[in-house]
Amino acid sequence: MQRRLEPELLDSLPPDHPDAIRSRRDLRIVNRVMGNIRWFESVVPSHTRSGERVLELGAGTGELCRALQSRNVAADGLDRVPAPAGWSAPARWHQADIQTFTGWSDYPVVIGNLILHHFDDAGLRALGDAIRPHARVLVFSEPTRRRRCQWLWAVAAPLGGTNHITRHDGRVSIAAGFYGAELPRTLGLDPALWRWRIINNWVGAYRMVAERCT
Ligand SMILES: C[S@@+](CC[C@H](N)C(=O)[O-])C[C@H]1O[C@@H](n2cnc3c(N)ncnc32)[C@H](O)[C@@H]1O
Repeated sequence: MQRRLEPELLDSLPPDHPDAIRSRRDLRIVNRVMGNIRWFESVVPSHTRSGERVLELGAGTGELCRALQSRNVAADGLDRVPAPAGWSAPARWHQADIQTFTGWSDYPVVIGNLILHHFDDAGLRALGDAIRPHARVLVFSEPTRRRRCQWLWAVAAPLGGTNHITRHDGRVSIAAGFYGAELPRTLGLDPALWRWRIINNWVGAYRMVAERCT
């Protein structure tokens, strides 16, 4: 399957639109089924050094940041949407576009769940160029781009009672997902400077943990 990008419907809705609220609820269930939050909880604290701040790209409802904060990780969120209700200092929320954000130097650890598939290869390369000078660790969970995953989604999404936004965006997200070593390569990680591992789970998660060696 060739990587193909189409706009996601959730990105075009105001954050308080009822369909968007429902779709974000669906996303929480998808994250639970894919084991995404649990996986980040098992990986990020052990890869974060004392005093380091972690930035989550596309932090949405802030659920992942909060899970990490409860494990004493200084996790900040970045998203186009405003900070979730109850978000408070010392945690920071950057309401910004990832492509124009300039505060990378504060963040040696950059993470994200279901966000990088929004970007085409040129966008990912530009993001990699912005992040690489400052980052030591990158941890991302994205959709695996496989036909098997499209079939699984086509069956599971209606059974799970997801709304039309989630069903559409899930299909589009898998088509824009990753396979093999595509993600580290597209981000421009030099194998002489970075070590990475890619893990695929049976429910369609594509996970990358990358660490700078020097
Ligand atoms: C599929 S949702 C995932 C949200 C969250 N990571 C989760 O797993 O529940 C993608 C999120 O990325 C945000 N987003 C998409 N493109 C963005 C961009 N260019 N800059 C900032 N945020 C963006 C959207 O607002 C949305 O909250």
